[in-house]
Amino acid sequence: MKIIAICGSPRAGNTEFVLKRILTQAEKSGASVELVLLRNKRIEFCNGCLTCDSTGVCNIRDDMQMIYSKLESADLIIFGSPNYFHNVSGMLKNFIDRMHPFYENLKLKDKKIVGVVVGSSGKIKAIEKSIDCIKVVADLLEMSFVGDFYLIAKNPQDTEKNPENIQKINEFAESLIS
Ligand SMILES: Cc1cc2nc3c(=O)[nH]c(=O)nc-3n(C[C@H](O)[C@H](O)[C@H](O)COP(=O)(O)O)c2cc1C
Repeated sequence: MKIIAICGSPRAGNTEFVLKRILTQAEKSGASVELVLLRNKRIEFCNGCLTCDSTGVCNIRDDMQMIYSKLESADLIIFGSPNYFHNVSGMLKNFIDRMHPFYENLKLKDKKIVGVVVGSSGKIKAIEKSIDCIKVVADLLEMSFVGDFYLIAKNPQDTEKNPENIQKINEFAESLIS
């Protein structure tokens, strides 16, 4: 199984920690894994040209081109984001907008997708929009949404300092690869 995780946090914090932990567990079970840190990539905004509607490809030449190929070769794609204003981060949303070619070419059809979100609030209304945003991607690209994981944490090391969190992440990772 090939797993690619996309991290939409601008800092080396909780989301990145959760994704790394999931990938480490998956790797131990034999999966091939890769983490893409959007903060280290040059990804332009979608310019709305809609060329991809007729060609199925994006003509903006930036780091997305290499990521398109990685997504196409994955079996499971994990989207990770901090919760910002009850939604995914702008960084992840920009990445999602650049996935529009897949709406036309359906190259991700039937691939599995998972949502991982970290926020400082445990209120349900803080959580549901960000998870919904990832579910919409699954719906429009005809992917299979197979799970979501929400963790409450605020400061960058909050997740790794709490053994209960590590346990929860391990259990979630196991559910993905079993
Ligand atoms: C601009 C901004 C907006 C935020 N909005 C929310 C929010 O609406 N709900 C919430 O639970 N946490 C919110 N937070 C807190 C972050 O989700 C939290 O600090 C999280 O741990 C960040 O994840 P990271 O360490 O992976 O970057 C916000 C943080 C920032 C910087």
